[in-house]
Amino acid sequence: MIEKLPGMRADVVLCVTGGIAAYKACEVLRGLQDASCDIRVVMTQDATRFVSPVTFEALSGHPVAVDLYGYADSPIPHVHLAEWADLILVCPATANVLAKMAHGIADDCLTSCLVAADSPVVVAPAMNVHMWQNPATQANVAALRSRGVGIVGPVQGRLACGTTGEGKLSSVDEVVRYALVALGGVPGQELAGVRALVTAGPTHEPIDPVRFIANASSGKMGMALARALVRHGAEVTVVCGPCEAEPPEDVEVVRVTTAAEMLVATASAFQGCGLAICAAAVADYTPAATADHKLKKSKEPLEKVELVENPDILRALCLEKGRRVVVGFAAETDDLVASARTKLRSKGCDLIVANDVSRPDSTFGSDTDTVTLVDADGETKLGCLSKDLVAEAVVCRAIELRARGMAVAVDATMVMPRPGGAQC
Ligand code: PMT
Repeated sequence: MIEKLPGMRADVVLCVTGGIAAYKACEVLRGLQDASCDIRVVMTQDATRFVSPVTFEALSGHPVAVDLYGYADSPIPHVHLAEWADLILVCPATANVLAKMAHGIADDCLTSCLVAADSPVVVAPAMNVHMWQNPATQANVAALRSRGVGIVGPVQGRLACGTTGEGKLSSVDEVVRYALVALGGVPGQELAGVRALVTAGPTHEPIDPVRFIANASSGKMGMALARALVRHGAEVTVVCGPCEAEPPEDVEVVRVTTAAEMLVATASAFQGCGLAICAAAVADYTPAATADHKLKKSKEPLEKVELVENPDILRALCLEKGRRVVVGFAAETDDLVASARTKLRSKGCDLIVANDVSRPDSTFGSDTDTVTLVDADGETKLGCLSKDLVAEAVVCRAIELRARGMAVAVDATMVMPRPGGAQC
């Protein structure tokens, strides 16, 4: 058995594999220590060529396990470290180690520890873009994800091999944050005493008693935001269109169907709120009138249904927000960041979460998203992350904006007119 230190928040085994990003694992270790985690490091032989075990030994204050034999604190390090850990974090994770994990190969101390794991496992891949895109790597990652392994990143960026593309290790902050979320909590109750409003799910706009205009929003992102806000201490009201996603416990849920109903519910809830995040996929148009009978295809074709523009709920909140932080989403297939920046101005909000819905792993109903946070400071691109982690990053950014007093009071003259000039 390996001794647990009293007073630590959690015990983390940091598995370092043989890639150039291994040096960043030193900072990840420090970030987890700052969050009161005790860290023990396991390395592959290849990893020791990038960073000496002496470095990790000095930083962690514990011996580093590289071999299955001769570990100072245990005769069976792979089993005892796996038992000791509340979380195993593989950072960086090479294509080779991802493949071994997917297939249960245990041919050294690190991979044996992973096979012996009974705690949550998070991996932070980092490699050349083609290695990452290789169908074998993608299949291995999909297999690991389906078994509950958390995957953080990689992100786009300049790679050690000189090319630019997806394969760069997520930022140290992102990896640390993901690990802390996987441990079931995030430090800080920054939103204690604050009520936060979330809009979630689609709206349904009735054409007649049996037909409506809708979209495929599942409500998963809105509920992930509600969970993240609760973790940070907020009391939460979710105004939710028709969807199946389960709200977290202890959250007030207001169910609505149409955009008009969502506008009324959000306007009312926002009065008592210090923060709002609008993730709902509100239908842009609604029938001018709802028929009281099922329309007959022969006599009353659907193409004759007159549509009118729905109210813009986010924009309406921004006109009322004063110095409160309001966050919007932008679901885009092209010109992601430019379109998001236009929405940031036209809606008058503090932060836009630009969601690349052209990707099957980042769209309505998916469990992951690839987003860029766009605000007055610039852009922060996140890799493909679980919706819970995207929500965590969005809420952390909103908390930063609140703390820095960056929420800008908006009045009607500051908000760009919408195309078509429609006002709400
Ligand atoms: O629910 P999931 O299946 O998890 O999917 C999540 C999501 C893809 C729906 C979510 O991540 C997302 O991207 N939501 C915004 C979708 C959208 O409608 O984007 P938009 O670009 O059309 O709208 C921009 C912003 O204005 C959004 O914050 C939207 O809530 C708001 N809006 C839009 C129209 C309108 N009439 N009123 C609004 O408030």
